[in-house]
Amino acid sequence: TGPCIGVDLGGTKIAVARVEPDGTLSRRCRIDTRVTDGPKVIIQRMCKEIQKVMGTERVAGIGVAAPGPLNARTGVILSPPNLPGWVDIPLREELEKAFGLPVWIENDANAAAWGEYMRGAGSGADPMLYMTISTGIGGGVVLNGRLFRGADTYAGEIGHTTVDPSGPVCGCGRKGCLEVMASGTALARAAREAAERGNSLLSEWAEQKGTLLTAEHVFSALDKGDEAAAAIVERTVEYLAIGISNVVHLFNPRRVVLGGGVTRSGEWLFNPLRERLGKWLMSSFSGTFDLRQAELGDDAGVLGAASLWAEKRDTFETTS
Ligand code: BGC
Ligand code: NA
Ligand code: ZN
Repeated sequence: TGPCIGVDLGGTKIAVARVEPDGTLSRRCRIDTRVTDGPKVIIQRMCKEIQKVMGTERVAGIGVAAPGPLNARTGVILSPPNLPGWVDIPLREELEKAFGLPVWIENDANAAAWGEYMRGAGSGADPMLYMTISTGIGGGVVLNGRLFRGADTYAGEIGHTTVDPSGPVCGCGRKGCLEVMASGTALARAAREAAERGNSLLSEWAEQKGTLLTAEHVFSALDKGDEAAAAIVERTVEYLAIGISNVVHLFNPRRVVLGGGVTRSGEWLFNPLRERLGKWLMSSFSGTFDLRQAELGDDAGVLGAASLWAEKRDTFETTS
């Protein structure tokens, strides 16, 4: 098999690259999108970028990482909390029609998990748990050398495990999911709430005209010793520890890899999280896995989707 195209579709960006059989990425490109544009416009723009990256050379197929839940067997995007307006979109069929190539659609966190397992921070570890913390929170589990997809290919939704039954309503419509308590979006929301209460660097920054507080502001304020920011981060770490320990108890992974935009700086996260995990894990589980930062950054989804496309025959868990 020759090169294929890897695509990572997110709520606010589309990344496309050509992926060689050895995993090398070339002709990377990335465009910003607005989630309010809706599926039709976003799919058109995706096709344009794919066409650009493909050029006139032959490629064998296209692998796409997209927010779930989605059905990897049928290639239909079901109703992802972070892609409002996308309901039952047959993305695979549309791309196959547009390009006349075989297409594989995979959950973005599953794709990134596979990418990290193949060539990044997860290599050699089995079972491996991957979690991405960005706009949303997603997860992927590698078990016995394969991506674990579950009965309907929906498995790995760690972001929608409940960590606080009396928490706020999540994008999925349920209360107190890990995603609504500890994602980048949750950090930004907490920053704005802290800004309103006042008495924090966050309030000063929010008052500067045109500043919409984001997760980044929380980390900058933390760096400067801001107490409100420290409280937000501490709470976030606590929820992450609860969410991760639940899944660790279920799978007994050898390694847990954390990726996604919010983990990129890393320092605020890994040591406090190790300590908090000690509080939530059963004592027998302490020291059974290591916690590592993802290594592939933005390439994980593109690479994982492309290599799942190429390897789907060996890696796809059938239920028959
Ligand atoms: C979705 C997951 C996805 C994650 C990251 C969550 O809201 O349910 O399928 O992996 O966001 O995009
Ligand atoms: Na997943
Ligand atoms: Zn949810």
